[in-house]
Amino acid sequence: MLKYILGLSLVILAMTGCNKGDSDGHASSDKPITIKFSHVVAESTPKGIGANRFKELVEQRLAGRVEVEVYPNSQLYDDNKVMEALLLGDVHMAAPSLAKFGKYTKKLQIFDLPFLFNDLSSIEKFQLSDTGRNLLSSMGDTGYHGLAYWHNGLKQLSANKPLRNPEDAKGLKFRIQQSDVLQVQFEQVEASPQKLAFAEVYNALQTGVVDGAENPWANIYSKKFHEVQKYFSESNHGYLGYMLVTSDSFWNGLPEDIRAELETIIAEVTTEVNAEASKLSMDYRQKVIDSGRTEVLALTEEELTKWREAMKPVWAKFEDEIGKDVVDAALSSNQ
Ligand code: LMR
Repeated sequence: MLKYILGLSLVILAMTGCNKGDSDGHASSDKPITIKFSHVVAESTPKGIGANRFKELVEQRLAGRVEVEVYPNSQLYDDNKVMEALLLGDVHMAAPSLAKFGKYTKKLQIFDLPFLFNDLSSIEKFQLSDTGRNLLSSMGDTGYHGLAYWHNGLKQLSANKPLRNPEDAKGLKFRIQQSDVLQVQFEQVEASPQKLAFAEVYNALQTGVVDGAENPWANIYSKKFHEVQKYFSESNHGYLGYMLVTSDSFWNGLPEDIRAELETIIAEVTTEVNAEASKLSMDYRQKVIDSGRTEVLALTEEELTKWREAMKPVWAKFEDEIGKDVVDAALSSNQ
């Protein structure tokens, strides 16, 4: 009897094993592919919304075939580590800010040049141009695959003293992202920039490790930077946007039909995120004002001109690395 039961179990096991395979030989085709998406911001920001929307659409349209796990708020990795994790296959998608790709390509530094673009729609025009689209593959054979650009918004300067003119920044320590352009930008106004991970910014501002920072409104409000900075200047001096990125090995290893559907979904989510970004930024600006925890300073045209002039030499310093053709194409997108 025991022999019979053992024999039967073996037959059942073998049959179950067979069912796991499929006719075209993909041994684990009935097991969904998991896409781990790691990012550093709150779920209420443009990137957080985009990542969650991506998950929602993938799980609707590729139900049972692909599932998405989103890890926001630096829960898994900061933006440096996430790039390594992508190549190791520990995560499969991320959207670091364009300021953080300097190790892989110098061309994306275009997005950090201060006062280069007039507004988000000019930036979008550039990103959709041939030059802009080509920059998605400017990392060459580093193993990364750029999928899309997502906006956050324009950056605002903050400190515990009012920053109306460039001289007001002199001697202050500013937290910056991992970007040589941003470093030179602050050196240009005789401030001292410090590269810190996003997850460390609140504490650094609260404890005085740094005096100031630059962020778009969605990041300011969602991470409560307005509770630890007395003044925000509406400088709109630079752009914070993202590259949605995966690894070549993950992307190329996907079944073709799944990759095509993911591309369609990414295009849809990108349109949605970018269409909402300006409005979202303005909503968060208002929330910061309404909080009554800080003061938002409007800068006059004259004051803005001084900041523009003080920071403009940064362009010439990076033009060779970025490429004059890219700078010209960016400038011609201004509307
Ligand atoms: C920052 O480090 O300030 C930003 O890149 C964070 C983000 O992802 O918006």
